[in-house]
Amino acid sequence: MNRQGKVYLVGAGPGDPELLTLKAARLIRSADIVVHDRLISQQILDLIDDDTARIYVGKKTSQHTLDQQDINQLLIDLSRRYANTVRLKGGDPFIYGRGSEEALVLAEAGVTFEVVPGITSAQACASYSGIPLTHRGVARGVQFVTGHWMRNTPLQFKSSVIADETQTLVVYMGLENIQAISEALIKAGRDADTPAAIVESGTTEHHRTTITTIEELPGCVAVNHIESPAMLIIGAVVQLAEKLDWFSPGDAYSFSPEKLCSHYSRCGVFTDVVASKPITFRCATSDANA
Ligand SMILES: C[S@@+](CC[C@H](N)C(=O)[O-])C[C@H]1O[C@@H](n2cnc3c(N)ncnc32)[C@H](O)[C@@H]1O
Repeated sequence: MNRQGKVYLVGAGPGDPELLTLKAARLIRSADIVVHDRLISQQILDLIDDDTARIYVGKKTSQHTLDQQDINQLLIDLSRRYANTVRLKGGDPFIYGRGSEEALVLAEAGVTFEVVPGITSAQACASYSGIPLTHRGVARGVQFVTGHWMRNTPLQFKSSVIADETQTLVVYMGLENIQAISEALIKAGRDADTPAAIVESGTTEHHRTTITTIEELPGCVAVNHIESPAMLIIGAVVQLAEKLDWFSPGDAYSFSPEKLCSHYSRCGVFTDVVASKPITFRCATSDANA
């Protein structure tokens, strides 16, 4: 059979199945075949019809079921067999998801495709940890970077990108290189006491947020046995978690009593990095004005 089907590159969101879009849910339910990654929650996989074929092509660092070229070819082959192929990816397909590489290969092969955006884990981890990625007077922008570079390429950040304290920095895939990231930030001129959050298994029942400083990030990861998937959020906005944290999967929210991960005081005095003046936020235990 050599018919021309369509491939849907679908974002499954960060973990909480309720963060799936209606469009993604509809396509998953009506797919003829689903090709999926590792970080897709079971509840989302349960939407796939029992009679629908599914292929797992998950990747864990240095443990790939299929390499990317084989996945690309698989999608082309499936498009010639099935009317609706859903390629289901964690978060958003176009943010560190290699969805754009797959789309390029499909385009070159003349295969029709659609891209269905998903909530990316940076955005979801931040929201579920009570950390606004931008906040007036605290961070006027946000940058997404990867902490894991292509094989055999040493980690290299552009200093001007990571040194800008007016921007929140969100690091995907940063756990393995946590020491190098911490050192690079300080070398680029960031204050060693800059607040940093590590959000593990964001939006799931295992969601855990640990707050520390950029200098203490490596020790904090080791002491708390922090595991992948994890997102690093760096910048003054992290301090807002103290007041805005709302998501409590059990008692997972951890403010470690140890020095390593107990950076900031409860009533935050934030530096207004935009206007370069200190601003004080009202907090439960003081009458300091906002
Ligand atoms: C290959 S990238 C895929 C990103 C995905 N396309 C997205 O938009 O979120 C995988 C990295 O995303 C981050 N990640 C994905 N899901 C996460 C979650 N639930 N909690 C924390 N980090 C997550 C981790 O940094 C992980 O190493």
